Amino acid sequence: MIELQHTTKTHDESRQGEALDMLPTGKSTGRKLYIESYGCQMNFSDSEIVASILLDNGFETTRDYKEADVVFINTCSIRENAEQRVRNRLKEFESAKAKNPGMVVGVLGCMAERLKSKFLEEEKLVDVVVGPDAYRDLPNLIGKVDDGSKAVNVLLSREETYADISPVRLNSNGISAFISIMRGCDNMCSFCVVPFTRGRERSRDCYSVLKEAQDLFNAGYREVTLLGQNVDSYKYTKPVIEGQTPEPAVNFAQLLAMVAEVSPELRVRFSTSHPKDITDEVLHTMARYENICKYIHLPVQSGSSRVLELMNRTYDREWYMDRVNAIRRIIPSCGISTDVITGFCTETEDEHQETLSMMDYVKYDFAYMFAYSERPGTLAAKRYEDDVPEEVKKRRLTEVVNKQQEHSLYRLQNFVGNVQKVLIEGFSKRSDQDYCGRNDQNTMVVFPVDERFKPGQYVHVLAERCTSATLIGRIVD
Ligand code: SAH
Ligand code: SF4
Ligand code: F3S
Repeated sequence: MIELQHTTKTHDESRQGEALDMLPTGKSTGRKLYIESYGCQMNFSDSEIVASILLDNGFETTRDYKEADVVFINTCSIRENAEQRVRNRLKEFESAKAKNPGMVVGVLGCMAERLKSKFLEEEKLVDVVVGPDAYRDLPNLIGKVDDGSKAVNVLLSREETYADISPVRLNSNGISAFISIMRGCDNMCSFCVVPFTRGRERSRDCYSVLKEAQDLFNAGYREVTLLGQNVDSYKYTKPVIEGQTPEPAVNFAQLLAMVAEVSPELRVRFSTSHPKDITDEVLHTMARYENICKYIHLPVQSGSSRVLELMNRTYDREWYMDRVNAIRRIIPSCGISTDVITGFCTETEDEHQETLSMMDYVKYDFAYMFAYSERPGTLAAKRYEDDVPEEVKKRRLTEVVNKQQEHSLYRLQNFVGNVQKVLIEGFSKRSDQDYCGRNDQNTMVVFPVDERFKPGQYVHVLAERCTSATLIGRIVD
């Protein structure tokens, strides 16, 4: 799913080989790094930190793993098939390593954290295993492998936010970029492996976030997406300096406003919001700034209060509906998307129907939908039996997917006939006669190229028709 860098999609198990051949920023070693990423945008964002650290240490990047000296795979553990995909990919690296025995193969990210040194036993070609909080140690770990040993660092940190490292923008369209504002998660949803692979929640210094946004704007970027597993619990407190009065903490609504103030020409997006934490203050801030996009990813997971309780989501059906009502009231034009899990432990047919009726209530613009996949070590794996048969999970998933298709089409059709403000991101995938970009609600819009406008500029597009996922129109400026 993350074949496009400029989506606000935040999770999947698909891959992106990193493009662009980049030269070292430090003294060159002549060594080449290849890195590819799986999973959510946090991982893609982390790969940009990793690339930055290695460029500083004399590496250059390559698009071709076969010619690389160091091959990194930044991995995801969210569902079993995400891990399977990584293992299959490692098999493909085997012949390259056989031809070039000096090649260093490293596993980074969530799977590295989950499996730790077990990885070295399970996958013989792997030389380095590095968890998400240990990337500063990479040059040292590569050095250990050069000296003939295997290397592991999976220490999680309570402080690391890589705030001082400027990510190198991999695969960038030069228009949209992601800014990581926090790391980890303290929520312990019972199905989820993230708190174990990413550690405790911590917020990044708001001034370093602001500086990154400002630098991106100065470099021509026109859209930033603030990333965190639960952005609404963002809270940055400046360390107290002796003799000075402590400054009040900065919350997410305040951070949003700070970033929106960089320029009215800079679009601001964010992901992911948690239904238990999203505040009216955030909604009012969104309403106040034209350049904060009217789009919220608000994962519901299930429409049944009993299942939500088992999932340890800490909200119920009514609470979620109340939050949706608040969004509709404060930001009437807001797009809403969601995540749904079908067939969680003990989910009944009636409870599945409640998920479908929740979807009817909200009519989401977009959804990511998954069959429940038990993850070792999670609360659900310890406490509940994964007792919904696979074919029932799949059938429920199909019903959810079909319903979402109806709703996506309904939302798209509502845009037809209206004028949309679109940030031009580049040529459309299909043709260089067409531009593509997104409207405020994150819907892709395609329209004929007009020489007066370039990528990075805003245009008004009359949506004339739609396909199942795209609006098609023409510039009316
Ligand atoms: N922090 C985000 C989600 C991160 S994981 C949030 O709280 O919403 C992305 C999505 O993957 C989740 O929203 C959930 O729908 C799905 N997911 C997580 N663990 C899963 C599992 N064990 N099986 C199936 N889907 C899962
Ligand atoms: Fe996982 Fe829940 Fe944290 Fe999201 S909020 S990352 S689903 S534990
Ligand atoms: Fe992201 Fe997958 Fe880790 S969704 S946080 S890369 S488990």
